[in-house]
Amino acid sequence: MSASALSGLAALAKQQGSLRQAFAEDPRRASRYRSSACGITLDYSKNLIDEQSWQALQRLAAQSPLNACLQAMLAGDKINNTEQRSVWHMMLRKTDVSGLTLDGEDIGAAINACRAKMTALVTQLHQGEYKGYTGKAITDLIWIGIGGSLLGPQMAVEALTPYHCSPVKLHFAGNIDGAVVSDLVKNLDPATTLVFVASKSFGTEETKQNALAVRQWFTDNGADSSAIAQHFWATSSNIHAAADFGIVADHILPMWDWVGGRYSLWSAIGLPVALMIGNEQFSQLLQGAEAMDQHFINSRFEDNMPLTLALLGIWYINGFGCQAQALLPYSHYLRLLPSYVQQLDMESNGKSVDSNGQPLTEASAPVIWGDAGTNGQHAYHQLLHQSALAVPADFILPLQAAHHLTDHHQRLAAHCFAQTQALMQGKTLQEATDECLAAGMSAEQAAALAPHKVSPGNKPSNTLLLPELSPFYLGALIALYEHKVFCQGVIWGLNSFDQWGVELGKQLSGPIYQALAGGEARALDSSTQALIQAFLQQKKG
Ligand code: F6P
Repeated sequence: MSASALSGLAALAKQQGSLRQAFAEDPRRASRYRSSACGITLDYSKNLIDEQSWQALQRLAAQSPLNACLQAMLAGDKINNTEQRSVWHMMLRKTDVSGLTLDGEDIGAAINACRAKMTALVTQLHQGEYKGYTGKAITDLIWIGIGGSLLGPQMAVEALTPYHCSPVKLHFAGNIDGAVVSDLVKNLDPATTLVFVASKSFGTEETKQNALAVRQWFTDNGADSSAIAQHFWATSSNIHAAADFGIVADHILPMWDWVGGRYSLWSAIGLPVALMIGNEQFSQLLQGAEAMDQHFINSRFEDNMPLTLALLGIWYINGFGCQAQALLPYSHYLRLLPSYVQQLDMESNGKSVDSNGQPLTEASAPVIWGDAGTNGQHAYHQLLHQSALAVPADFILPLQAAHHLTDHHQRLAAHCFAQTQALMQGKTLQEATDECLAAGMSAEQAAALAPHKVSPGNKPSNTLLLPELSPFYLGALIALYEHKVFCQGVIWGLNSFDQWGVELGKQLSGPIYQALAGGEARALDSSTQALIQAFLQQKKG
């Protein structure tokens, strides 16, 4: 994408008027800026756009290589050019994968074989047929992984809590903070615990160390190598490393190099979800994502929901200079969605060079943050309403609740809609003054307090409505954000599928770990040396 097309957005942004006025002048604004896909409705009318700016954003998309890049992705071209990898996570949610081949490999057969294995394992676990080394049925499953090998299943399992039907309890272990594993195993029995080591690379330090600690717990409890083989599974593309760890070939589910970690929920990384909601509902999750894929692939640009979200994001980042984006699901069950989208968006597009290694002249991904509403209303929404920072927000609401407290749900929805309205319309000084006078204040008191009550308004938001938080709509929602991130990456001209920036910290932690273990620390800067000394002092004392 030419830098001038993006930099032209700033001039256009300056011309945007008041949203409150736009609504007053155009009674059709809500229907004009509204779209639907796979049952999900997007109201984007509370954005700082008018016909001119919206057309300019559409032109930006039309001039970008979006269509060509999408076709290249679908064709299996190695669009992750720095790692020479195809990007085929969409294939993992296709209902019919027969005949799919990549580089001469029968991918359709491989996907089907993996699905069949997952289904069989879930069925065995549900029916109590999977027995541990003492002959007792498995009661608990520990899922060890981090980043894309953890956040997706953790978020989806939480989101689909009302669908849980598993007799086997699920536990996640991600952080290398030893508190995680040591607390976890306190209440578990190795004889009835199955362990999954989820790591595409099988080289991630946190996952390896946690897996070793859990394996040691087995050994300490009398398990021999055949018991460990019976209880340990992996999902990885590094079969040799998994085998070296002691995991038998039959217990290694594939993770292909054409699936990025943060896009891997649809692979065997989704096993915890299948376990908790059952095989049929897991298929629904895949079908929801597949439905969104079809919408994304086949819709015209102007009706394309992922592209609409992408263009609005670009508008705020490159037109208005916004550096943050709030994600506010009004759903307790969706409370982990912001963390999941954080990795999806920030690890994909948080880059400073384009796919040819040339510096980007315009900013890319925003800081994604958020939590479930209404909690944030009593914490950080103050900043959204009154600070000088502009933070566009996505509000997400399932229309139907999965519980019987209907009045609670109505109140939740009222707050969700009220927040978007308050951000959009704000409160003028006159309104604030009138409010104070109506409350019985003197003119002097009203003049003193009113400025504090003013909300500038004109703060943009999207509202996404899901019919309900079912596996199908969750799948569609996740795919929506995946495709949004893809569109933005294409328009910014960067590679959304590598993550070289995470490597430096990993490299540097090696020598520091050695120094903390008593090794040489002299080559390190003085601050880092002092931190190491503080750690060593504490250890000695
Ligand atoms: O360090 C970043 C990262 O590579 C992520 O991209 C990935 O999701 C995560 O680590 C876990 O990687 P793996 O599945 O190889 O253990």
